[in-house]
Formats: sequence, C-alpha cells, structure tokens
Amino acid sequence: MKRITLTRFLIDEQYNRKAVPADLRLLIEVVSRSIKAISTTVGKGALAGILGDAGSGNIQGEAQKKLDVIANEILLEANEWGGHLAAMASEEMEGPHAIPHRFPKGEYLLLFDPLDGSSNIDVNTSVGTIFSVLRCPEGVNKPTEAAFLQPGTAQVCAGFAVYGPSTVLVLTLGAGVHTFTLDREQGGFVLTQQHVKIPADTQEFAINMSNMRHWEPPMKRYVEEMLAGKTGPLGRDYNMRWIASMVADVFRILTRGGIFMYPRDNKDPSKPGRLRLMYEANPMAMIIEQAGGAASTGRERILDIVPTALHQRVPVILGSKNEVERVVGYHQAASE
Ligand code: F6P
Repeated sequence: MKRITLTRFLIDEQYNRKAVPADLRLLIEVVSRSIKAISTTVGKGALAGILGDAGSGNIQGEAQKKLDVIANEILLEANEWGGHLAAMASEEMEGPHAIPHRFPKGEYLLLFDPLDGSSNIDVNTSVGTIFSVLRCPEGVNKPTEAAFLQPGTAQVCAGFAVYGPSTVLVLTLGAGVHTFTLDREQGGFVLTQQHVKIPADTQEFAINMSNMRHWEPPMKRYVEEMLAGKTGPLGRDYNMRWIASMVADVFRILTRGGIFMYPRDNKDPSKPGRLRLMYEANPMAMIIEQAGGAASTGRERILDIVPTALHQRVPVILGSKNEVERVVGYHQAASE
C-alpha cells in the first residue's frame, strides 16, 4: 500500500478536493503534533514520574491526574501561536482560553478533552485525546463561552487519538472517517484506514452495568433483552465489553461495530448524564455519523442539541445504526 502521511492526506484534501482550507489544515497538523507529544509522555509512564493524582480538581470537581494537567498544557502551548485559532476550551478548564495578545488570531475555536479515560492511566490501559473544531461566530473578537455554544452540526472537524498498543488518530472533516497510525520510528501519522464504515447491526454492547439500578425503564428494558440472549425477545446472544475509556470503546465500534451507552441515570439529578456534550459527545457523534452509525441521547440526535453550557453533560447512545434506533424506539414507546 502506498504510504500516505497525514500531511500528504491533508494537502490532497486542501488542493485536490478543496475540502480543507489552509488554516484548518495547519490546525489539524498542530493538534496531531500535540497528540504525538502526549503519546510520548503517556508511553513513559512511571519512568517519567507522571502517574498518579495532580492533587487538584477540575471544573467538574473530579480529581485531576498529573497527565490530565500535562496533556492540557501540551495542547494549549502548541496551539497558541499558530494564528489559526480565536480561542480554545478544555474539559480541564473552567472557561475559554484566550489566545495571548502577542500571537496572531484565526477564525477557529478548538475544544478538547486532553486525556479521556484518565482513570485508566495508572492501570496501564488505553487513554486518549478528543478534539473538535468550530468556527468563531462572525464579528466576535474576544470569544466568551457563548461563542462556543454551537450545536454539534456546526463542527467542521472532529477527531480523537487512542494511546494504546499503537497510537491511532481518527479524523473526520465532514466527508468520511479516516484512521492514521503513529509511526514511532519516523515520528509521523500514516493513513491506515480510509472511509471507515460501522456495520449497521451488532451483537456487542458497552455499558457500565453497575449503574443498572439507576437507569430509566427503556434502558433497563434494552439491556435486559440483550442479556436474555437467543431465547429472549431479540432472538440472539450479545457480548459485552467495557473499557471505561470512551476513546477505546469508540475505536472498537469503528473497527467492528457495537453500541456504546452512557445513559441518563438518577444517581445525581443535577447531572443528566456522565459525558460532556462539547468535549466528548459531539466530536464522537460526528465521527460515528460520518462512519454510517448513529448517536442519540435516547430522546434526540446528539448533534442537534443546542448547548447551554460549556461543561454540559448529556446521555450518550452511539454506534451501529440499527441498535441505536432500537434504543431510541424504546424511549419513544415509553413516553407514549
Ligand atoms: O469521563 C469520561 C470517561 O472516562 C469515559 O472515557 C468513559 O467512557 C467513562 O468516563 C467511564 O465511566 P465509568 O467510570 O463510570 O466506567
């Protein structure tokens, strides 16, 4: 197979397919360089003294890992000076991060979850970085939170990396999903799968079953039916996987299909879900839809949600289209 680097792929998108403007190409290149740096850091593990808690909490009140903080810094520093951004927002920071005055500004907004699944770092299981790009609304010179509150359909690009046995980068520019693998010797990303397609049917589900008693009836119904297997109403046996690292679970779904669910539960009424709309649900929903899958809260398409806050949480049900539609149907039936 001809070796196509990320740079070459993006240049082709820019000149031949007119699918990516020059400053968006630069943005993606810079993000991919940050991802390479995070991958190197993650790979050092205990040798670099980077495991364990940072001793701080993030805006969500969750304990930050040292690597959460390091990955956040890497992304902020790399993306400040290139002239392609108007501002950034991170899951690890309370409000938007303005581009310092000394640097040129651009027209894009970058959002990221610097280290998703970070509870897995210390146990040496896959973690990742999720990102998404929006256009800064016209006439906005100093983007505040309001500039970021655009529905997922407005995303111009979304991607994520998985720091696993190999480091992979999944990318969509709104015309299909492509996967790149980091060549550690040569130090760059190489295209390894083009136009990823998720099978419409699946017999594999991912959910944190320990929350079952807190779920709403349609979700309990669906999971009970899957657990009933061949002799139950769905007439087939299902397999379960839960890595507790969304990037790894979604990568598996892109690879062989499946359904991923972090549904609404009644554990904490102030939180309608566990996952963040802007940093996790929206980028993943764009990628899943671009790969032929579906992404819903159970009640509405994730990409249609009009955000009300930067750190808003939502229920997430995504993956193989027919199974997601089944779950949406169960929610509809329960509300009739
Ligand atoms: O915060 C995100 C996250 O770590 C996801 O990557 C993952 O899917 C989920 O939380 C794991 O949740 P739990 O700890 O409930 O299994």
